[in-house]
Amino acid sequence: MAKYKIALFPGDGTGPEVLDEGIKVVRAAAAKFGFSLDTALFDFGGERYKRTGETLPDSAIEEFRKFDAIYLGAIGHPDVKPGILEKGILLKARFELDQYINLRPVKLYPGVETPLKGKGPEDINFVVVRENTQDLYTGMGGVMHEGTPNEVATQTAVYSRFGVDRALKYAFEYARKRGAAKPWRGLGQKDLAEGKTAQLTLCGKTNVLTYLYGLWERAFHEMGVEYPEVKRDYAHVDATTMWFVKNPEWFDVIVTGNMFGDIITDLGAMIQGGMGIAAGGNINPAGVSMFEPIGGSAPKYTGMNVINPMAAIFAGQMMLDHLGETEAALAIEAAGVKFLNSGLIKGLSVKEIQEAGLSTSKIGDLIADYVAQG
Ligand code: IPM
Ligand code: MN
Repeated sequence: MAKYKIALFPGDGTGPEVLDEGIKVVRAAAAKFGFSLDTALFDFGGERYKRTGETLPDSAIEEFRKFDAIYLGAIGHPDVKPGILEKGILLKARFELDQYINLRPVKLYPGVETPLKGKGPEDINFVVVRENTQDLYTGMGGVMHEGTPNEVATQTAVYSRFGVDRALKYAFEYARKRGAAKPWRGLGQKDLAEGKTAQLTLCGKTNVLTYLYGLWERAFHEMGVEYPEVKRDYAHVDATTMWFVKNPEWFDVIVTGNMFGDIITDLGAMIQGGMGIAAGGNINPAGVSMFEPIGGSAPKYTGMNVINPMAAIFAGQMMLDHLGETEAALAIEAAGVKFLNSGLIKGLSVKEIQEAGLSTSKIGDLIADYVAQG
């Protein structure tokens, strides 16, 4: 029987509550599909920082390396100055564990409301592959004469060919695999005649950031030759945001830099029904990956058992998929969709959860039961 070592990292705010439900559902899937979990708890986060001044020590990174995956709740504390926990914990884990891909599926499930008029689940189903270790996030730059009228600040976007190539490789492989499982619905006659099964859109800014996205574009087309079944497409980042709203059905797989990826995936989360449903994976294909709901720590609802745990549950699905437990992952997705369509709930806001007489833990119980019965 397969046994996976999972580092549970609840973090701040509502992170612990939603992660409890996520792991409950993952455990239900483990019981049903015949594998087991060996979990360990890591309490890094805002509270610990306030107590000890410690964010994420190097020793924790070394500990994490011994796990098959990390399952994260949320990072962010209202009493801690922005940047400290983000950089000291979340970004440190991503960088030190070389999780160079941030994978964000944007999928509108039936039964979930999108703010986009006239769009449904058949229109909103794409995946963003965001580079996760370079760009403006490297922290290169500095400030001088801080706090004076002469203040100067720089923060430089950095891309190495190596870093771009490995992100592109992941994206092309991902697109190829996705297309092989189910050809992308947006392909035209000509594409089909050419044997295309998937589309990969490079989202950049080649009209202004000519050095940075010039590198991306050359690397994209050079590598693309090795993936004849993947149709290559390009969109500027500003236009991408427009099309997410107007024509989300135009996208299959998108690959982009860290900063643009950060921005467009929040928009992606909104069109798939909100931050409460969107999950992501920080992936090192050859190392330890970390899965998280992308919604944040929602401090004002901490400890109230009212927040929707769907994003954490779908992050659990992504984690099992990554570990190779494909059937278990699909079962979690199916159970989540069953809940969303059960008629038990009108929407996923705190108000709607309360009106339905549900709670964070009740939703977790229901979905875990659906997995067990499924
Ligand atoms: C995300 C978040 C993080 C990011 C923050 C919290 C550092 O917004 O995961 O998208 O910018 O990557
Ligand atoms: Mn973000």
